[in-house]
Amino acid sequence: MSTQPFIVGNWKMNGTRAMLSEARAIDRGAARYPAVRVGIAPPFTLVTAMAEALQAAQVGAQDCHAEASGAYTGDVSAAMLADAGAQFVIAGHSERRAMHGESDAVVKAKAEAALAAGLEVIVCVGETEAERDAGKAEKVVTGQLAGSLPQGEDAAARVTVAYEPVWAIGTGRVPSIEDVSAMHCAIRAKLDAIYGEGGAAVRILYGGSVNAKNAAELLAVDEVGGALVGGASLTAENFLAIVMAASGPSTE
Ligand code: PGA
Repeated sequence: MSTQPFIVGNWKMNGTRAMLSEARAIDRGAARYPAVRVGIAPPFTLVTAMAEALQAAQVGAQDCHAEASGAYTGDVSAAMLADAGAQFVIAGHSERRAMHGESDAVVKAKAEAALAAGLEVIVCVGETEAERDAGKAEKVVTGQLAGSLPQGEDAAARVTVAYEPVWAIGTGRVPSIEDVSAMHCAIRAKLDAIYGEGGAAVRILYGGSVNAKNAAELLAVDEVGGALVGGASLTAENFLAIVMAASGPSTE
């Protein structure tokens, strides 16, 4: 993969201000690996503080509403996230698709709202275990891409795709390298079909139980342009080991 790898920490519903020291430690580490783009997506409550505290690493959010403002109690718009200092937002994480009933159309609307607010967007896709067992994984994932990706002339330049098999998230299980490779190639082909020439620039992250031990092997797979990391992003020690793996063979 010739483009700069992108390693993103998804803190999910974890973290209070006490965790800012961990974020600063991640930031200091990220500064040592300029070849790697590092991002952290904390809960909404930490976006501003983190955006102010970090220099080398970028800050994102885990979700946004599709509308810019209005009577949507409890929701946060992409414009608000941009104002708070976010540079990117995750859309369509499988936990949101499953627990908040987000359809492809909803995810697409959120992704388009993110782009309209000047943010980048990471659109998540991934099959369930039952779908994989039924041999439908590629069909499900390419269908999600067709339904969830933002449209428009320069959308591709600010979109990242995260392939996260639902059954690999938080379970310690990862697909075989062959399966990761096959899926990432299928995603690339679909991106080419959707965005034409622009599709080649879209990074495809792998996510689901990425850790310090398996990161190097996963990141070496053709078409894997980085990782979306949950549990292992909560400490600088674990997360920076993944950043280091993304920086390539050690010269130290
Ligand atoms: P995990 O989560 O690394 O804890 O499996 C990944 C994700 O849900 O983004």
